[in-house]
Amino acid sequence: MNLAGKKILLGVTGSIAAYKTAHLTRLLIKSGAEVQIVMSTSAFDFITPLTLATLSKRPVLSQFKKDETGEWNNHVELGLWADLFLVAPLSANTLSKFALGICDNLLSAVYLSARCPVMVAPAMDLDMYQHPAVQSNLSQLASFGHHILHAESGELASGLSGQGRMMEPEHILEEVQNFFKISSDFKGKRILITMGPTQEALDPVRFISNHSSGKMGLALADAFVSRGAEVFVVSGPISLNVQKDKFHWNSVTSAAEMFEVSAKIHPEVDIAVFAAAVADYAPAEVADEKIKKDSSILSIKLKKNVDIAFELGKQKKINQIHIGFALETEREAEHAKAKLKKKNFDLIVLNSAKVAGAGFKVDTNQVDLFHASGETVQLALASKAKIAALILDQIKTIPVWV
Ligand code: PMT
Repeated sequence: MNLAGKKILLGVTGSIAAYKTAHLTRLLIKSGAEVQIVMSTSAFDFITPLTLATLSKRPVLSQFKKDETGEWNNHVELGLWADLFLVAPLSANTLSKFALGICDNLLSAVYLSARCPVMVAPAMDLDMYQHPAVQSNLSQLASFGHHILHAESGELASGLSGQGRMMEPEHILEEVQNFFKISSDFKGKRILITMGPTQEALDPVRFISNHSSGKMGLALADAFVSRGAEVFVVSGPISLNVQKDKFHWNSVTSAAEMFEVSAKIHPEVDIAVFAAAVADYAPAEVADEKIKKDSSILSIKLKKNVDIAFELGKQKKINQIHIGFALETEREAEHAKAKLKKKNFDLIVLNSAKVAGAGFKVDTNQVDLFHASGETVQLALASKAKIAALILDQIKTIPVWV
């Protein structure tokens, strides 16, 4: 794939593999990409900025201040400029800074302020690579949704042999090309996502709700955006740190509000994902004043809420795709398949409330996917970011996908 028009910020850290970054830079430039290199000063021991500046045709950046005039290298602007932040090689030291959010040089400041996707190619000795601290930091970066280009096996600079070599530049180029191919596969698609819980008021200070954090829905919204889609989020009350300007963001509280807002957006979208944990019932009456604790037993009358997915499922057009979720505690597959049919979904994602590390609140999920066509796909426990990416891949197999 030609990378013309793609802007790549290439981070280089202190590792012997930095000499291979010269070849990588050439490959990226030859493929048409614009490459801006940011080095940590310890990378200077392994390759000169002059070499990389010559190959990338741009001055290499490593300091906050550009020169004696005191002009500022704006790390925020660099992060906004790039379509991809690729760090190759990534040393164990810089990896740990990324995992912990430590900001003590230009490279780590650019990393923390980058809004673009991040891809890292770690390189280190085999025992360092296998160390639980390094593996845990890599998992942490993966949970941020970053792409990890795992080290390759072979002879290492120490003379030992094993996994730790930075991925070969040709393979990194393939990963970058593949990334850009995938990152535009939902371009032109408009997506509606319901997410989070709903809150159903009992009185001015209390409500009925559930444990949904919105993490699964947000991971899906992020995945769609990173693959080129325009995303309309309708979210119940959540307390996640969200970069809302990436989406058309709508905050709602109750199921009735979620339905009202979703119904307006629905006719205009290609894909609707119902990831919200909508309260099935709401208090039949909302007290005007705080309910007093006068009696030992208090009965609350509940009325059924609108079923958003069911109602919009009735309006689904021939070229629209609907994805549902199910959270079950017993006869899980049977219940999920019944909902798939009843709510006119093309695909339902079943997460079990019983599997450790799956369902509400956690950063990971384990799901089974049931297609309307009858096909079933089981996905192993993984970060919600990874599960979201795999759900998007499955959406592309649905017959009405074009
Ligand atoms: O938010 P997290 O903490 O990350 O947790 C993720 C999650 C568990 C909330 C999510 O992955 C999930 O499973 N959401 C749906 C849970 C649920 O309410 O399932 P359900 O079986 O009650 O509903 C089935 C489907 O109908 C869902 O797509 C739901 O959004 C939709 N529905 C349900 C009721 C209703 N009144 N309106 C709806 O649209």
